[in-house]
Parts: sequence; structure tokens; C-alpha cells
Amino acid sequence: MMKTRKLRDIEVSEVGMGCMAFSHGYGKIPDEQYSIEAIRNAFAHGCTFFDTAEVYSPNLSGIGHNEKIVGKALKDVRDQTVIATKLFLDSSEARRAGSVYKAVRRHLEASMERLQTDMVDLYYLHRTGSVPVEDVAEAMGRLLDEGLIRGWGLSQVDTNVIEKANAVTPLSAVQNIYSMVERDVEKSVIPFCLENNIGVVPFSPIASGLLSGKITTETKFEKNDDVRNLVPQLSKSNIAGNQPIIDLLAEYAEKKNATSAKISLAWMLKKYPNVVPIPGSKNKERIIENLDASLVELSDEEFRNLDDTLNTLKVYGHRGFTR
Ligand SMILES: NC(=O)c1ccc[n+]([C@@H]2O[C@H](COP(=O)([O-])OP(=O)(O)OC[C@H]3O[C@@H](n4cnc5c(N)ncnc54)[C@H](OP(=O)(O)O)[C@@H]3O)[C@@H](O)[C@H]2O)c1
Repeated sequence: MMKTRKLRDIEVSEVGMGCMAFSHGYGKIPDEQYSIEAIRNAFAHGCTFFDTAEVYSPNLSGIGHNEKIVGKALKDVRDQTVIATKLFLDSSEARRAGSVYKAVRRHLEASMERLQTDMVDLYYLHRTGSVPVEDVAEAMGRLLDEGLIRGWGLSQVDTNVIEKANAVTPLSAVQNIYSMVERDVEKSVIPFCLENNIGVVPFSPIASGLLSGKITTETKFEKNDDVRNLVPQLSKSNIAGNQPIIDLLAEYAEKKNATSAKISLAWMLKKYPNVVPIPGSKNKERIIENLDASLVELSDEEFRNLDDTLNTLKVYGHRGFTR
């Protein structure tokens, strides 16, 4: 059993699992059986929170590759797991469907089929776009009433959008980029969420691998479907510039008999009680390693020293959470 946290009223393991890389984003994908076993191993290790999205497919062409894998992996333990997925929506589609609600419901039903479930625990709007967020919030409210979802969320949004949406239908979670080198959410998103009982689910919490300390200026990323070619902190010069942060993590990893990736996750778990990171990996061992960040206990003093030192270090490269 892993420690748990609440995303409003949805209980999840305090570290979740990002499943995206089994389909998209980090180069060559593993074969399906390996991915299914990796997800099942994570569950057996105590992870109950799994993150996917309708668009996670090789090269982002096609729909549902990743949801199908998650569905197959978890079908026998579905009632013990929390599955989060995400939809994209634009206003022309909503017009064609007759209403925002009908369009959202259509996406949800297709996701449920691929996930082999009759209910999605946490349903996110992947990005806000041409549909007013209040209209999406209203549609999500109806889906909640109908028992088709247990909670809803937004991704890559600022406090202004969160506030507008939350006023219509209270949010369970906000999924934004957050790591030791992407800290915009600390300014107002996390404080607002804390005050309003909204969970914060950081994506790319290991900064796409940078904070594991395993990436160097010599690391070659893949040519095809590899977001690391675009991650600002991962250009050669920025990897070099960020070395003091990598060194700081290595120092704590040694002190705590942990790994740098674990320390980077333990830092955010200690910092905020409503944060539930969803690290991603295509590697069975690393998935377990990341889940075990939940076992790393930073004392108040260790945390303060780590955080204070981090605050003195310049971050090279910045994406921000508004795109
Ligand atoms: N809402 C959104 O817009 C959005 C955007 C991006 C991602 N997400 C979600 O967030 C999840 C996580 O984000 P992410 O995968 O981009 O970033 P991440 O978890 O920060 O990093 C993933 C990268 O780090 C490496 N890595 C992970 N753990 C490691 C460890 N212990 N040691 C060494 N390297 C390690 C992985 O390599 P290996 O695979 O080789 O281990 C992979 O290249 C995704 O799976 C997805 O579900 C959401």
C-alpha cells in the first residue's frame, strides 16, 4: 500500500503513473505486452492513479492507442484504480454535435469504450480553446450528475481560468507542468487550489528526465516523436547551465540513500499536501523507482535547505504553463 492523497474527494496513491510514453512523446514505443506488464507492476506496487489521454497515439496521429493499453492493463482491477483521461474540444465540433455537452459526452463515451469502463474517474479538458471554459464546466457538471465521471479537471491553465471554471462546477484537479525547473504554478495556481480544495497533478515532474541526472550534454534524443528535442531545459547549453540543480539533487540523493528522480518528487510532495505527481517512464524499473519517492521522507530541515538552495540557483530554459 502506498500513502494516499485526495484530489477533492478522489483518493489516489500519492505518486501516480503517467502512461503517455507507451504511445507518444519519448521516441520508440515498447511493445504492447511490455507496456501492459509495466502498468500492472505499478498497480501491484501500490500505484492506483493512472494518467492517459485520447490523443496519446504514435506521432499524435490517430486516437486512443494509449487508452486501449491502459484499459487492457487495468480491466481486472478497475474498481481499485483511478483512471484519468483528457479530451480536446473546439467550438465547431460542439456546434456540429448540437451542444458542448453532447460533444463532450461523445468524446467520453469513446474513451470509456477504449478504457473498458463505464465511468472515468477524472476527466480533463486537455487544453482550453475556442469553447468557453464555463460551458465545458457545465457539461462536466451534467456528466458528474449522471455518474459518468467522478471528477473533472483542466490542464495548463492559469488561476483566472481555474476560478471561472470552478465557480460553475468545482474542479477535482488541475494538471499543469511543474517540476524543480518549472515553478510558475507556485505563484498563484497552487495557492488557489489549496484554498479551494483542488488537487494539483504535476506533469513532466522530472523535467522530461533532466532531474534524474541521467541526461548529459552528450545525450542524443530520438528523431521521431520525441518531445525532449523541444523541452527548453534540454538544449545542450541549458543542460550545462542547469548542472548546479542536478548536482544539488545528487547530493541529497546520496544523503538520503535515494535517487535524484526520487528526491525531485519527494521535494514537491513535502512542499504541498495537494500535489500528486505523475512521472512517466517506458522502463519498468524506473517506474517503480519513481513510485518509491513516496517512501523518501525529507525532514523539515532537509526540505528547507533543499528549497532554499534551489531558490538561489538560476534555471536555464523555461516553458511556462500557459501552452
Ligand atoms: N497535460 C498535459 O498536457 C501533459 C503533457 C505531458 C505529459 N503529461 C502526462 O504526464 C506524464 C509525465 O510527464 P513526462 O513523461 O512528460 O515527463 P517526466 O515524467 O518528467 O519525464 C519522463 C522522462 O524522464 C525519464 N525518466 C523518468 N523517470 C526516470 C528515472 N527514475 N531515471 C531516469 N530517467 C527517468 C523517462 O525516460 P525512460 O522512459 O527511459 O525511463 C522519460 O524520458 C505523462 O506520461 C503524461 O501522462 C501531460
